[in-house]
Amino acid sequence: MATSILALSGSLRAASYNTALLRTAAELVPDGATVTLYDYRDVPLYDADLDKPGSVEAFEAALRGADGLLIATPEYNYSVPGVLKNALDWASRPAYKGAIFGLPTGIVSASGSFVGGARAQQHLKPILLAMGVPVFPWPELLVGGAGGKIADGHVTDEPTRGFLRSYLEGFVPWVVKQGR
Ligand SMILES: Cc1cc2nc3c(=O)[nH]c(=O)nc-3n(C[C@H](O)[C@H](O)[C@H](O)COP(=O)(O)O)c2cc1C
Repeated sequence: MATSILALSGSLRAASYNTALLRTAAELVPDGATVTLYDYRDVPLYDADLDKPGSVEAFEAALRGADGLLIATPEYNYSVPGVLKNALDWASRPAYKGAIFGLPTGIVSASGSFVGGARAQQHLKPILLAMGVPVFPWPELLVGGAGGKIADGHVTDEPTRGFLRSYLEGFVPWVVKQGR
């Protein structure tokens, strides 16, 4: 059976560079694996008093059905966008039994700036580790100056496509080895 990678973008905007990175990952992923974008925009703000909404149940089912998770995130104010953190918080409950627990995860980032989302990646790692999520350690992938490398929702820059292909060639076997 194919190795299924669920993909979450930290940006909800239609022309997001990070969503484009994931769309391109779906094209470049090695044979025997799939990358499927998941739109979690209907997940509400976390509130422990809520009966679990259907949107959260659907998100959890998608996470539980995946072999691995790939997150592409922008950097917001030196950190992780609130929408992404909120969705991850839902998936982390109950603690160490939530849908994300143990799900092997890779982090990539893209930004119009030349920092390329580096600080967001550094903040997201310990957040995931707190949830009992193994994080792919190497290689790292940052796309700085994304405006010149992404067009019409896809990565067009050939060197960047090559870096993404190499990342996936490392990431997919690592996911399989983790064997959630
Ligand atoms: C609220 C907000 C805060 C931001 N803070 C940073 C930041 O601290 N560092 C940075 O490099 N870019 C920052 N940016 C720029 C975004 O990272 C950049 O626009 C990125 O391309 C957005 O990702 P997207 O194209 O996937 O939507 C910020 C953007 C927003 C909306």
